Amino acid sequence: MSATARKTAPMPEDIRAMKGGTPIVSLTAYTTPMAQMMDGHCDFVLVGDSVGMVLHGLPSTLGVTMEMMILHGKAVARGLTRAMMVVDMPFGSYEESPQQAFANAALLMAETGAGAVKLEGGRHMAETIAFLVARGVPVMAHIGLTPQSINTLGGYKVQGRGDAAEALMADARAVCDAGAFSVVLEKVPAALADQITAEIAIPTIGIGASAACDGQILVVDDMLGLFTAFKPKFVKRYAALGSDGEAAIESYAEDVRTRAFPGPEHVFADKVPS
Ligand code: KIV
Repeated sequence: MSATARKTAPMPEDIRAMKGGTPIVSLTAYTTPMAQMMDGHCDFVLVGDSVGMVLHGLPSTLGVTMEMMILHGKAVARGLTRAMMVVDMPFGSYEESPQQAFANAALLMAETGAGAVKLEGGRHMAETIAFLVARGVPVMAHIGLTPQSINTLGGYKVQGRGDAAEALMADARAVCDAGAFSVVLEKVPAALADQITAEIAIPTIGIGASAACDGQILVVDDMLGLFTAFKPKFVKRYAALGSDGEAAIESYAEDVRTRAFPGPEHVFADKVPS
């Protein structure tokens, strides 16, 4: 069923049931108007911790806080009626222990109304995923390039090439066995993404992975051309809102300086017209 035809938001189990069917459509969102724009078109919307880089100008996602995720989660929730909302757990909010992860996941869900949380990590996060799922927190996993670990991964590199493929396959099996309802595969060789998708029982959501994944996700500011600091190979730009917006602002500045704006139609007469 398309997101437009659906009357209520899908649950994590509905997303899981989309494995092997029509590809799952998802984007990130951080504000109410963006969420409204994508609500009729996406199966789920991710309030990604990419918010730190694309909206707050941070150099990485490491500085993103629980407060930021709650604020943006609440804003996105106000714009959604049909798509499910997933909120990212920020760096430092879940790695210490399953108990820490539960306390923060429960807070994110209670404050924002999110249907699920997403966290980064494979085998080493399996115990935490199982702990959360057993306590009512649906978890989307995220493996491959996990941007919260860029300092240990050595940058934004493709993960799972050559000998590293087996370890990534093991991560995929581990998060699936732990009870995650889906898994994001970021910057993974296409053949490995295909193999993971064919083998595990939960949907794979690709970003820089493969067209054969069960779904795709992109950062909305990347695909709309709003975030242009850099463009990963896996981004397809569907619009150029950043350069269009700058051209519009340039025209406005010119109009103000030449008194072409405001025009007579933008100002108020002394008397109410009869
Ligand atoms: O934070 C984010 O935007 C993400 C997507 C890239 C999957 O995690």
